[in-house]
Amino acid sequence: MADSPPEPNKKKSSYTADRGVAGAFEGETMTRRGLMTGGALAAGGIATAAFGIPALGFAIGPLLEDQEPEVWQDVGPESDFTAETYVPRVINIVSEIGEAGKTTIYVRTALPDDESPSDKPGVEPLPMVAISTRCAHLGCPVRYIQASKRFVCPCHGGIYDEQGAVGGGPPVRPLDRFYNRIRNGRVEIGDRFSLNNKLDRFSPRDPSQHLDGLWQYLYPSRPST
Ligand code: FES
Repeated sequence: MADSPPEPNKKKSSYTADRGVAGAFEGETMTRRGLMTGGALAAGGIATAAFGIPALGFAIGPLLEDQEPEVWQDVGPESDFTAETYVPRVINIVSEIGEAGKTTIYVRTALPDDESPSDKPGVEPLPMVAISTRCAHLGCPVRYIQASKRFVCPCHGGIYDEQGAVGGGPPVRPLDRFYNRIRNGRVEIGDRFSLNNKLDRFSPRDPSQHLDGLWQYLYPSRPST
């Protein structure tokens, strides 16, 4: 018996009604369910990107930052400073605005336990401790009291120990510090950096921003602060 000839290829209709799709309407090429599903997936993708992309940027941003300061400010000969007490010095942190861009910092010679660079390979100890007077709570200027070896904030009672670590009150992290180096016997101050409560260095953050655990990924660095 002869084989029956093959069925000619029938072109599939683009209309849902012709394809026998349940609930189809005349003239539709996509079901409402398909449209809603596609729309929901697109909206979900956009919402995920809106949250995910900035978070990713904050997380990897600090890794891409140039950590080497570009501007160094001379604050005096090395012999002006000792490890026993802090010496106040004025530096300019926003040079474009003249006097208003100046701030006081406290400087002393560093001791071996003044920071914990061990958590980050390649982080070199600094020769001096140069501490910012900007309170890590809301930014009021702190003052160093030599008799108690404490930094004290007049605004809300924030207290910091000799390392600038939080000793009491509302501040959420230690006082910021500045990179520093000694060149030809003179102390030079570079950019600001922030610290978590283990005294590990981070790129600068605004006051009141935590830097411990996952918090470090939730706040963006602000090199201009
Ligand atoms: S600003 Fe220093 S404790 Fe609030």
